[in-house]
Amino acid sequence: LAIPPQTTLADALRTMLGLTGTKVACDRGACSACTVWLDGKPIVSCMFLAIDAAGHRVTTIEGLARGDDLHPVQAAFIAHDALQCGFCTPGMVMSCAALLDSVPAPTDAEVRAAISGHLCRCGTYPHVIAATLDAARVRKS
Ligand code: FES
Ligand code: FES
Repeated sequence: LAIPPQTTLADALRTMLGLTGTKVACDRGACSACTVWLDGKPIVSCMFLAIDAAGHRVTTIEGLARGDDLHPVQAAFIAHDALQCGFCTPGMVMSCAALLDSVPAPTDAEVRAAISGHLCRCGTYPHVIAATLDAARVRKS
């Protein structure tokens, strides 16, 4: 992409690449709705310049499923009804999926810590935690 240097990664993804699965809510690093992975680690893309992503691997919610095969966290979110309006959901999923990559069998507290920066106005937190713990069990079996 040829972009103005002040372009955030979130804007580049959404408006220039059409990857609108990444949501922007606060646009100031306060809600984590815009979470994507940079080299496999979650970052808030509204606070990250797109030019700083050059040479790194960026993964968005669009990149988690393999065709029709959902990532276990995505499938568990559906099974546990872990979303309402869905605005926080892509970011939540990215953080929970990243957690399972680094901690395959997390505790309840570890899941809570992983989503601690995420704001959900719909109050889905208990379902998100249950879904993530379940996804960890599914991945293990
Ligand atoms: S939109 Fe990026 S942290 Fe809220
Ligand atoms: S599901 Fe609506 S903000 Fe989280």
